[in-house]
Amino acid sequence: MSRQPTPRAAAAYGAEEAFDPTTGPVVRFQNVGMRYGRAPEVLKDVGFTLPVGSFHFLTGPSGAGKSSLLKLIYLANRASRGTVQLFGHDVERVARADLPYLRRRIGVVFQEYRLLDHLPAFDNVALPLRIAGRKPQTYRDDIAELLTWVGLGHKMQAMPATLSGGEKQRLAIARAVVTQPELLLADEPTGNIDPEMSLKILRLFVELNRMGTTVLIATHDQDLVGRAGMPVLHLNEGRLSRKATRRAPEPAAPDYGPELGPEYEPEPDEPELGYDLGDEEGEA
Ligand SMILES: Nc1ncnc2c1ncn2[C@@H]1O[C@H](COP(=O)(O)OP(=O)(O)O)[C@@H](O)[C@H]1O
Ligand SMILES: [Mg+2]
Repeated sequence: MSRQPTPRAAAAYGAEEAFDPTTGPVVRFQNVGMRYGRAPEVLKDVGFTLPVGSFHFLTGPSGAGKSSLLKLIYLANRASRGTVQLFGHDVERVARADLPYLRRRIGVVFQEYRLLDHLPAFDNVALPLRIAGRKPQTYRDDIAELLTWVGLGHKMQAMPATLSGGEKQRLAIARAVVTQPELLLADEPTGNIDPEMSLKILRLFVELNRMGTTVLIATHDQDLVGRAGMPVLHLNEGRLSRKATRRAPEPAAPDYGPELGPEYEPEPDEPELGYDLGDEEGEA
């Protein structure tokens, strides 16, 4: 984590290298198969692309291979066959020592959270910014706002062990989005969160996506998928298919449909997402 990029690695795998930032794709799988050890393949002939700025859900029953597919993207596992490209790089051709530079461009919400137990909530979220070399005074207020947004404003100094499952999950989400990564991967990010907070989290992802982050969310929460109206990649027994987007019928979601679109404004009682997420007016 503390390793500094060599100039060569930073040049080759930093944000400035030459994949087309307008079209990407950020991720491309071609004929990907994956197996654990000698067991049968859990992913079979998987092919898809995630264009820059796209927002997809990854659905499918438990055991279908959703987490395994995400692990291939965040470089925790390797494909058994086929090609995985990330930010224009064939990951098999990237030197092992240089993989962290690609990984740093990805925000991940792990299914099992992976919080640092010895650090309070605030510091868990601050860590990726510290690693990126930011000074505390430049992000303190932003983190406080973000934690308030996810309902943890009163738990900023709490240790992870004292948080409920849902609170840990929201903390993990805050940590994944705080850097405004180029790619956000979330594995069942609302699995322990009530429906109302789930929609708020969805708005956070939509807002991040509006600001340019490419998003892929693995979930079996059909309500969330229906309300968002985003394209769906569906896995079944390791095989991928595209599903038509199914929006929830309007009467069922009168309060949410329009807010999830480009015109979304925070409700009066919601803190504004002050850090760059919600503050695009001043730019450009
Ligand atoms: N570390 C592992 N070692 C061996 N088999 C695994 C491992 N992780 C997942 N699997 C198997 O891979 C298949 C897909 O699992 P997973 O990707 O976790 O699916 P999902 O996230 O859709 O529930 C399952 O049959 C699961 O048992
Ligand atoms: Mg899973």
